Amino acid sequence: MEGYHSPQVDVDIRLNTNEAPVGPPEAFVADYLEAVSKISWNRYPDRSARDLRKSIAALHGVSPDMVFPANGSNEVLQTLLLTFAGPGRKVLTFEPTYQLHGHIARISGAEVVEGERRPDFSIDEGVMQSLLKAHSPHVTFLCSPNNPTGTVDSRSIVHAALGSTGGIVAVDEAYGQFAPWSALDFIDEDTPLVVVRTFSKTWSMAAARLGYLVGPRWLVAELEKVVLPYHLDTAKQIAGVLAVRYRAEMDARVAELLSERTRLADGLRRLDVDVFDSGANFILFRPRTKSGREVWQGLLDKRVLIRDCSSWPRLDNCLRVTIGTRQENDIFLERLTEVLS
Ligand SMILES: Cc1ncc(COP(=O)(O)O)c(C=O)c1O
Repeated sequence: MEGYHSPQVDVDIRLNTNEAPVGPPEAFVADYLEAVSKISWNRYPDRSARDLRKSIAALHGVSPDMVFPANGSNEVLQTLLLTFAGPGRKVLTFEPTYQLHGHIARISGAEVVEGERRPDFSIDEGVMQSLLKAHSPHVTFLCSPNNPTGTVDSRSIVHAALGSTGGIVAVDEAYGQFAPWSALDFIDEDTPLVVVRTFSKTWSMAAARLGYLVGPRWLVAELEKVVLPYHLDTAKQIAGVLAVRYRAEMDARVAELLSERTRLADGLRRLDVDVFDSGANFILFRPRTKSGREVWQGLLDKRVLIRDCSSWPRLDNCLRVTIGTRQENDIFLERLTEVLS
């Protein structure tokens, strides 16, 4: 097997891992430092992370027992797959998509069925339905907005995935706050649907490793049986509780990133590249006159790091850039123009 790779290089402008371009509000950091100074370090954390669940539940208007928090949404995905995938079971993905869906499914021992997206990276409902019928997957992954393409799935795709399978449908919404709609609206006790979210992107908290899932109570109860006890440390639980108090600031940042996304996409469209529509905090594009690798290296030589997807299956020559600050985006566009000319 190949592991998960994402180069961490020392550069001036880092636009390769879809993080928020700035840290959380200063007041949050002050609140956090004060709260962690009072931790009883000799005690295990609250095993069921009650306050954190309550805070996340209030954010989405659900009950706390419909929330499963973990160490980044990656640990949420891992727990979901340890619980519902495994040997003799099937997991359906629509490629290209977030690599870890298939990767963790394989580690669990499950068979991964790879559905293909259309050339514009949307999912064909007919293709989906025939795959569901042929394989009856135990877990079907949707990723909306999809990483690395930025594609937002339609409501009808989520409905179609749910309509034809008794298995779990997991909608990975790591970038959900940047998208026009959310599958959170469809969650109820009778639907085998979960929505996965993270504090790593909009909440500017990638360093903390905190993510969660919202789903039916019975499903969350199954995950509890599988996850390690005390997996969420006290400091992280505090960070999550405090972060959601800064929702207004978070919403303002999302609005700013959305307007920067439009500006960056417009800037890219003026260059010799094909740009894919994005509902996320990143944009996938494909240089027309030079190879993706050459352009990526040219940018790196100018101390700008973006994600090189050019050798990934189905993503020939594609590059992915994270939306940064206004200044970072300007520098990226300027250096890209130089590299392309
Ligand atoms: C689609 C998707 N899901 C999940 C993750 C994992 O996020 P984290 O583990 O930081 O919450 C990422 C990270 O880039 C992602 O792109």
